[in-house]
Amino acid sequence: LGEDAASTMRPILHYTARNTWLNDPNGLVWHDGLYHLFYQNNPFDNVWGNMSWGHATSTDLLHWTEHPVAIACDEEEDVFSGSIVVDHGNTSGFGTEEDPALVAIYTSAFKEGSTHQGTQAQSLAFSTDGGMTWSKYAGNPVLGRGSAHFRDPKVFRYEGSAGACWVMVAVEAQHQQVVMYRSANLKDWEYLSTFGPANSSEGEWECPDLFPLPVDGNPENVKWVLVVNVNPGAVAGGSGGQYFVGHFDGVQFTADPDSLVSPDADGSTDLRQCLWLDWGRDYYAAVSFSNTPDNRRIMIGWMNNWDYANSLPTAPWRSGMSLAREVELATVEGLPRLVQRPVLPLVLPLDSGVPKSTFQDVELHDSVLELPDAMPGSALLIEAEILPGSVRSIAFRLLCAPDGSAATVLSFDPVTSQLTLDRRTSGNTAFHEKFASAESAPVKLDGGVLRLRIIVDQSVEVFAQDGRVVLSDLVFPLPGSLGTDLRVEGGTATILKLVVSSLS
Ligand code: FRU
Repeated sequence: LGEDAASTMRPILHYTARNTWLNDPNGLVWHDGLYHLFYQNNPFDNVWGNMSWGHATSTDLLHWTEHPVAIACDEEEDVFSGSIVVDHGNTSGFGTEEDPALVAIYTSAFKEGSTHQGTQAQSLAFSTDGGMTWSKYAGNPVLGRGSAHFRDPKVFRYEGSAGACWVMVAVEAQHQQVVMYRSANLKDWEYLSTFGPANSSEGEWECPDLFPLPVDGNPENVKWVLVVNVNPGAVAGGSGGQYFVGHFDGVQFTADPDSLVSPDADGSTDLRQCLWLDWGRDYYAAVSFSNTPDNRRIMIGWMNNWDYANSLPTAPWRSGMSLAREVELATVEGLPRLVQRPVLPLVLPLDSGVPKSTFQDVELHDSVLELPDAMPGSALLIEAEILPGSVRSIAFRLLCAPDGSAATVLSFDPVTSQLTLDRRTSGNTAFHEKFASAESAPVKLDGGVLRLRIIVDQSVEVFAQDGRVVLSDLVFPLPGSLGTDLRVEGGTATILKLVVSSLS
């Protein structure tokens, strides 16, 4: 790809590294007014390898500034995924009480010929300048199990009745287990417990996270959410994130029975019964920020899938992050479930030269409603409230090619109650045999109303029913594919409200 063709494929709102490869978000932390996004990065190429922590910062989770590599691989180790805490009590001694250090807990993937070759173990690095420069701790690694697949530590402060401590959740990836440890000083760790296998357990378990959230905002009713990313074994195939709702007592996580799925008679698990962060193909290794103001729980995922990650047709960079999502627990059909809201810029109405950016109470009977085109250089936001009635199908066609030969189709079928995102004719799908796909998620309407928020930005992220169901897919439309319309077939649907905005 020439730089021109490539640059038109760079998303506007989604973080990409300037000219290198990235995968998992790492060390997500808010500190001193800045959101820090560290990430699995190959500083030398745009395919996976030489794993180090890249770094970007933002004040609003939308506009990011790339910084030099923060924690680099060396002859001993690759630096795999992990997390960062602000060591407020200076428990580690790396900072001071007045000026606490940022401490990264990462996985050392030891190389052939190194002292710990053949194992993965947990190590520390610290920063005393607000996260801009990092030193590896001389006493690394701080926690090993003699295992080759022990990785992805997520550490948080736990305040129990017996006092506060650090808790780590990590994985024994090939055993489909989350293992938990605690520490007073981030250096000495004591084993607590193991969770898993459970639900989707076909592939490796990676990048876990564990956090409390009030249900429906009620501080008297706090539940714990255990996030477990799986690869392969996600509901849409390949990589994806499942979660469990339950209880954590400082030692052990116990999943509520309603978030556990019993295997069928043949031992297989119906993946559609598991709880998923996203029903699409491209939301993986999602974890949450630590130290956020007001205890907001904000997650970012890698917007890619190991099925085809190294083949995405972009250059000089390859792959990016999802939008940041604020997550909450809400009662959904009687049960506590995650709801997710994308962090978006302030929405300005489309340029007044563009007609019909807002539609209200429009009846569509077997017809097509033309919507404003996407604008080059900006992302598109569609917010819709629709009464589908008993139509056969209602479909948004996004990023339509001028000659109609290609489009990404988001459709709802009232009979099956399935929302389907279909990128089989989205443009360039040929770069990998596993890329062309269509994904469906069950969506329960509220009083007959389908509510959608759709963000189109070299990808389609759909938040249905106020974020109870999310579907995210990358797309690589043909040049000039900016058309948008809404088609109703087999009956009459009412568009209660539809607003199309451009975001930049
Ligand atoms: C998940 C993962 C992690 C690992 C990292 C290596 O995508 O495989 O388990 O730490 O990527 O880059």
